[in-house]
Amino acid sequence: MWLTWRAATQRALYGENGFYLRERPSRHFRTSVGASTVLAGAVLRELAGLAAGPYEMVDLVDVGAGEGALAADVLALAPPELRSRLRVTCVDLAPRPPGLPEEIGWADTVPEGVTGLVIANEWLDNVPLDVVERTPDGPRLVMVDPSDGAERLGDRPEEADLAWLDRWWPLGGTGERAEIGRPRDDAWASVVVRLAHGLAVAVDYAHRLGARPPYGSLAGYRDGALVAPVPDGSCDITAHVALDACAAAGERAGAVATTLTTQREALRALGVTGARPPLDLAGRDPAGYLRALSRASLEAELISPHGLGAFGWLRQSRP
Ligand SMILES: C[S@@+](CC[C@H](N)C(=O)[O-])C[C@H]1O[C@@H](n2cnc3c(N)ncnc32)[C@H](O)[C@@H]1O
Repeated sequence: MWLTWRAATQRALYGENGFYLRERPSRHFRTSVGASTVLAGAVLRELAGLAAGPYEMVDLVDVGAGEGALAADVLALAPPELRSRLRVTCVDLAPRPPGLPEEIGWADTVPEGVTGLVIANEWLDNVPLDVVERTPDGPRLVMVDPSDGAERLGDRPEEADLAWLDRWWPLGGTGERAEIGRPRDDAWASVVVRLAHGLAVAVDYAHRLGARPPYGSLAGYRDGALVAPVPDGSCDITAHVALDACAAAGERAGAVATTLTTQREALRALGVTGARPPLDLAGRDPAGYLRALSRASLEAELISPHGLGAFGWLRQSRP
């Protein structure tokens, strides 16, 4: 059976007994959420800023929440006066994980009229998309056999996809490939339109116009290792995100201010510096020094320019 990559990935990840409906993501790969509570601390600082506004209740919506760890960590870190004003919702296609604090809601779509912060950490890279390859006759869809990942070329993509490619991922020579990010643009826009007031943040592996990977970035992950992307439900299927295209879609959906930067820059602006504690603290308070040193290491991991710090951060707000 030959399917487009989008259809095959949709089935493999979210179809009956699909990878994400069956597996715990943290068993297969490590994200900034699983690494430590540093991201949760930064999210809490964003929320504290929004809570200073004229709202009685402030939403935190975690899209593609996985096991709900980010929301749970934010709640655990929140001071009581902020915690009592937070309305926390995890959004995922997977069932609610056991043991999540009761005050965290669980839904399969983003609620309407969010006032506060929407965060999507490593969600968009799991929104299925089609792959095209340049041939001497122009772009052709790449078809895949879900049983073994074998590929062959199919039809010409539809006009809207060709227009997206022209604008966001112009193909080079014969054999070059592109991943059509239109479903991710739509997914992101559907988040931004549900934001009544506040901020929406997407964090992901990303690339920009002019620096797209010439053969695409489709990859598989299983049991902590990179594997061939076979869409048979046995592994995660992911591809880096054209966050600049998502940003334009967010603006069309009503975002009024956009920042597209790296996780390193975004987290440093939120006070995550990875700076070592002063050495003289070791003499005065050895246990405090060790705690601060361990904290600095965790921060450094999230802002490393060669690792998680190179992720893209798209921040878009509505007034
Ligand atoms: C890579 S995991 C990220 C988990 C978590 N955010 C983290 O950073 O550890 C991606 C999650 O997005 C969810 N997901 C994918 N498409 C979705 C959709 N359309 N709506 C809600 N959740 C979705 C998947 O089920 C999966 O749990």
